[in-house]
Amino acid sequence: MAVPRIAVVPGSFDPITLGHLDVIGRAAGIFDELHVLVVHNPDKTALIPFADRVSLIQDSIAEAGIRGRITVTSWNVGLLVDYCTDVGATVLVKGVRGQTDLVYETPMAIVNRDLAGVETVFLLPNPEHAHVSSSLVRQVDSLGGDVRPYVPGAVARFLRPNES
Ligand code: PNS
Repeated sequence: MAVPRIAVVPGSFDPITLGHLDVIGRAAGIFDELHVLVVHNPDKTALIPFADRVSLIQDSIAEAGIRGRITVTSWNVGLLVDYCTDVGATVLVKGVRGQTDLVYETPMAIVNRDLAGVETVFLLPNPEHAHVSSSLVRQVDSLGGDVRPYVPGAVARFLRPNES
């Protein structure tokens, strides 16, 4: 029997956006098993508490009807590739919206391959999400703007529980 292809989709997911969800859906259609991993980034000021991000991703995946063997969990100790080794994942999946993302991601991809032989697969999200980022969502939200066009419903309800 063939060895299952296990991939990890890592990110801060603060919050998960429609662009992230698009990439998760595409990856779920390619790999046998997916781990969506919320990674703590001490360099960023958080909008959504670390613990809540996991359940928001789970709810977003369910609401979008994305199917497959998908585990959503968090990781805040050690190297990302250590998590990959622990769960038998040989691939990291990253979404790239354009050249800037690719320039940022390329050194990390090479280092992760050097460290543990983990390859990085870059997926292109639907271009309609090309301008969407978690940092933009955080900024719009902090200034009182409507983030509903950019995030899954679960996130919008979490940020504005009193709005429909
Ligand atoms: O959503 P983000 O903030 O762009 O995600 C960045 C993330 C979490 C994927 C990145 O910071 C990361 O890979 N962190 C893991 C730390 C690590 O293993 N570093 C060494 C190899 S690059």
